[in-house]
Amino acid sequence: MVESIGLLGGGQLGKMFAQAATRLGFEVVVFSPEPNCPAAQASTEHICAEYTDTEALREFATKVQVVTYEFENIPVTAFESLEPFVPVYPPKEAQRVCQNRLREKEYFSSLGIPVARYWPIETENDLKNACLVGVFPSILKTCESGYDGKGQREVREPNSLESEWKTLGCKPCVLEEKVKLTSECSVIVARGRDGEIQLFGPFDNVHRNHILYQSTFPSALERTLVSEALQAAEKIASKLAYVGVLCVEFFVTGDGKLLANEMAPRPHNSGHLTIEAFGISQFEAQVRSVSQLPLGRNYPRAGAAIMTNILGEDIPDREGLVSKLMLEPNTFLHLYGKKEPRTGRKMGHFTVLGEDLNEVKERVRKITKELWNASSGEGD
Ligand SMILES: Nc1ncnc2c1ncn2[C@@H]1O[C@H](COP(=O)(O)OP(=O)(O)O)[C@@H](O)[C@H]1O
Ligand SMILES: [Mg+2]
Repeated sequence: MVESIGLLGGGQLGKMFAQAATRLGFEVVVFSPEPNCPAAQASTEHICAEYTDTEALREFATKVQVVTYEFENIPVTAFESLEPFVPVYPPKEAQRVCQNRLREKEYFSSLGIPVARYWPIETENDLKNACLVGVFPSILKTCESGYDGKGQREVREPNSLESEWKTLGCKPCVLEEKVKLTSECSVIVARGRDGEIQLFGPFDNVHRNHILYQSTFPSALERTLVSEALQAAEKIASKLAYVGVLCVEFFVTGDGKLLANEMAPRPHNSGHLTIEAFGISQFEAQVRSVSQLPLGRNYPRAGAAIMTNILGEDIPDREGLVSKLMLEPNTFLHLYGKKEPRTGRKMGHFTVLGEDLNEVKERVRKITKELWNASSGEGD
């Protein structure tokens, strides 16, 4: 029986995972090189060491019965050090696919899930070829380590492809057609060791400066696209023999097509509203799936919910923000315990629940306008 769960990574996703796990009586041991990381604040123990420190990993493995992780860029060698001693979920193959945009796109395509047109860029020859056959404008993305729009450059015309590639350090990249988006959404899927599946969403996502700003439930997508998104996420999880929580992000195009964009082998920012809006949150689903508890039946606890991210630039007046949100009914504030409010850094989020989506939208619009004078809600 699992009593103690190990967690690689110390960010806010880890913190919310640890909160869900400790509520169910588990001990959580966090392994992260960052002192005072958010996850450590909610965990039983923190091993503060580098992911390449095999001795520390060995010690970590003796303290827990299962290991999971909260970000995908953990070196594969850490898995290799742990796996002889303790099971690690999600499985290594899923992490390998999710770590690399090119592999991800090839994987989606191999399952018959549509993606935006793309061209691998690894050599000078690839550059020449992409200039001839690519479409512009497009977006050049590094295959590895990008997040929140980092590692991406817009390429307006073939002539600037080479210089943009150089700006990204000539790393392996994919050049991706810039899609005319009508919206974006995500589906979160949890899969247990016995193949049991739990689906969340789709959630409609609005980004600002490539960073998630708001997620909304229920989705405004038409029914056929909703079931297409859910089926795609379920297929990906099943084919990967996945164990844990996986998020798949989609683009919705002007001509009504759903394209898979990327996936993450962990709970996702767009699923934070599940904490209050569902009977079982994405984090509890992760706890249940990696520790072999039944996934159970999930259900929404509210008719509608909107999650809004709070970034570093949004909280010069932290006390003012907190005390205003405390007065709002059915509004749930999460602050991640990060000390430095840098621009673009995710400091927290809040979720507003209600019975009717229009009413929730209106309340969120008022709150955000008052808090940081934003127009909110409709995307920009
Ligand atoms: N091919 C594209 N066409 C249009 N918009 C895009 C495209 N790729 C990315 N974007 C926009 O940038 C955001 C972030 O890009 P994404 O590929 O999801 O990378 P990450 O989330 O890792 O930074 C997307 O959610 C979307 O709003
Ligand atoms: Mg993304």
